[in-house]
Amino acid sequence: MFDYKTLIYESAKNVLDGLDPSDVTAADAFCDYCIPCFKFAKILRKSPMIIAADAAKAISIEGIKTEALNGYLNFTVEREGFIAHALSEIGEYKPLEDKTVCLDYSSVNIAKPFHIGHLMTTVIGGSLCNIYRELGAKVVGINHLGDWGTQFGGLISAYRRWGDEARLNERGLDELLELYVRYHSEAENDEVIAAEAREWSKKIESGDPYAVGLFEKFKATTLEQAKKVYKRLNIEFDSYLGESFYVDKVPAVEQRLEKKGLLKMSDGAEIVELSDDMPPALIRRSDGASLYIARDLAAAYYRHENYDFDKCLYVVASHQALHFKQLFKVLELLGEPWEREMIHVS
Ligand code: ARG
Repeated sequence: MFDYKTLIYESAKNVLDGLDPSDVTAADAFCDYCIPCFKFAKILRKSPMIIAADAAKAISIEGIKTEALNGYLNFTVEREGFIAHALSEIGEYKPLEDKTVCLDYSSVNIAKPFHIGHLMTTVIGGSLCNIYRELGAKVVGINHLGDWGTQFGGLISAYRRWGDEARLNERGLDELLELYVRYHSEAENDEVIAAEAREWSKKIESGDPYAVGLFEKFKATTLEQAKKVYKRLNIEFDSYLGESFYVDKVPAVEQRLEKKGLLKMSDGAEIVELSDDMPPALIRRSDGASLYIARDLAAAYYRHENYDFDKCLYVVASHQALHFKQLFKVLELLGEPWEREMIHVS
């Protein structure tokens, strides 16, 4: 489409008898393309200047300015038209048309502030989404929420002791943070509070409606703040499935590991031994709680099965480099070829 050289040749050959495609030469200081008219002087019995001047009048190509200068025909491509044309061609460039790309980014934690680290992965992840989408890929933007852990038991305990709904509604995340800080300082010297927090934590895990209801409220409060940021950045997620969603999918991962003889016991904990340069991956603690990597393994299978991705990117701060190295290694040991399409964008 950008073959201006041929376009110029095709238009000029009717005016300049004996014109050769190689007579059209590219760019010098005066123009983008030019035709020196000296070789036509003998045949036409005119000076090159006159030949060039006559030809300049006779040749008209849309989007290209034609001028005669010292026996040369100079062609200059008009910039505006060229740019519009180039942009339209790029806009139609869709090399990833049939590809699916999962992007795990931003991935905030419930009841924690949206900090600068999250802003980084939000901006980079959001940009990658736009680029992949522009290239034609089907993009699945995933906010892998940090919504699982014993800390939420402490939060419920603190909220029931010192918090109230009106203040939570008014102050949002600030209120949650303050409650959590207070819980921590008081639980240090008060075994009753700590035990109470563990009870609530268990209740969330067992699906107790009251505990889950409170937790959902904390979740909504956190997301409300994050969504303000997303709105300003013009970012939308396709999925907010967080860690809690994968808890009941960990046993299936354990079965796969078991089948391959990869699951080992170590002091009552379930581990997968990796290569020498990596510590083992901790799947389940001796108290029965699953770990971060176990839920990420379950999430990887879920994404593979539900989105059939061609690529799965994790836009996460570099301090989690080891975590992702371990995650990909476990999948490699499990013999999953799609593990090669997973990338930690650190
Ligand atoms: N919530 C984590 C954090 O804030 C990031 C999660 C990244 N994604 C993942 N699939 N592990 O540090």
